[in-house]
Amino acid sequence: MRLNKYIAQAGICSRRKADELIANGNVKINGAVITEMGAQVENGDKVIVNGKPIEAETAKKVYVALNKPLGYVTTMSDDKDRLTVADLVTDIPERLFPVGRLDYNTTGLIIMTNDGDLTYSLTHPKHEVYKTYVATVAGVVSDKRVAALRKGVDIGGFVTSPAKVKVLKQNPRSAVVEIQIREGKNRQVRKMFAAVGNKVQTLERVAIGDLKLGRLMTGHYRKLTRQEIEYLKSL
Ligand code: URA
Repeated sequence: MRLNKYIAQAGICSRRKADELIANGNVKINGAVITEMGAQVENGDKVIVNGKPIEAETAKKVYVALNKPLGYVTTMSDDKDRLTVADLVTDIPERLFPVGRLDYNTTGLIIMTNDGDLTYSLTHPKHEVYKTYVATVAGVVSDKRVAALRKGVDIGGFVTSPAKVKVLKQNPRSAVVEIQIREGKNRQVRKMFAAVGNKVQTLERVAIGDLKLGRLMTGHYRKLTRQEIEYLKSL
């Protein structure tokens, strides 16, 4: 098995993160530092990551949906000492990491798991699934702006792929808009609205593919059902 996959399956991190660990010389097979990307692990090999021995498939796989509150980062630790999503899933013994990112100021659905393979496939640019956001934005979201968002807008050197956009409510000075995108560029939804002239005031992710946030309270999480896990794997 490829070394990055082996590390991901052991629940240490995502496959992409494993590639970084390998490139940085943090991984040994049978005592030798391996920096070669395509390295294979054979039966009986001893793999050590950051000085700790690992065994693939030993960690029980756990999958949760978390409703991320405002003011939390979606990394496992933060150099500015801000709260992280890991602070919200403290009573699960396995170390879970977030699948993808949400901004500090974005709320809503984030999956957390120790299944590095699922993380890898869900976040891989090739098979990104539609993610649904509800944004409250300042100003009027005209039909012309909706059309531009749907078609794709330039967010600074990158033109977004077609999006699904629905104005749920237009108030005199603000609007509530549902927007579904497949890509996950940094601050993409905020930048898309900025590109058409609307500033995002609040942003919530309400679904990842068919997996819905539903009534999960802010700051709370629930374990995914077997069907939901199978669904995510099928994506
Ligand atoms: N788009 C954003 O702008 N922010 C997020 O957190 C997610 C998508």
